[in-house]
Amino acid sequence: VRVLVLASGSGSTLQALLDSPDRGVLWQVVAVGSDKPGVTALDRAARAGVETFTVAPADFADRPAWDVALAAEVARYEPGLVVLAGFMRILGAPFVDAFAGRTVNTHPALLPSFPGAHGVRDALAHGVKVTGCTVHLVDAGVDTGPILDQAAVRVLPDDDEASLHERIKTVERELLTHVVSRLAHELTHPERTAPR
Ligand code: GRF
Repeated sequence: VRVLVLASGSGSTLQALLDSPDRGVLWQVVAVGSDKPGVTALDRAARAGVETFTVAPADFADRPAWDVALAAEVARYEPGLVVLAGFMRILGAPFVDAFAGRTVNTHPALLPSFPGAHGVRDALAHGVKVTGCTVHLVDAGVDTGPILDQAAVRVLPDDDEASLHERIKTVERELLTHVVSRLAHELTHPERTAPR
């Protein structure tokens, strides 16, 4: 299955996919795209021999034009799955509709709790004892699509946002890779797909 990854930052989540033993077996990463040029995620892709591209909002008149351009660039690679791995933009209908049911996002909190760009900070501020990460299908909302899998992470008394986020990311990398492999397997063997 052809997997296209979108990332906006350091790309440690992307790196877990690039390092997965399932890469090149159940699925392959056909390209890595970003909304920002020069982010480390693009370097990680290049080092792994994966094609990269950037579609930056600043280059377009408005967000719908960016959505359309990003969808067109992604479509060029004919992905079976689009994976948002630390992609920090909200995707609008032109993109969501183009890849409906096959765009996966990972969020560093137990949705529906703490959606949005500061899920780790919000969970810590709320004083939860357990948080975690969620992998879900992307729909037109923000962090609202059908949940595919989740993993719990305990909050430690001396945690700050960085330490808690690092601990979540360790679990999140495993969770996302597992879900991508499962979806790829289901796409390859539709007859054996268990009813959800
Ligand atoms: C991940 O925890 C992701 O869920 C969140 O930001 C982090 C991305 O980290 N949106 P990285 O860029 O993959 O290192």
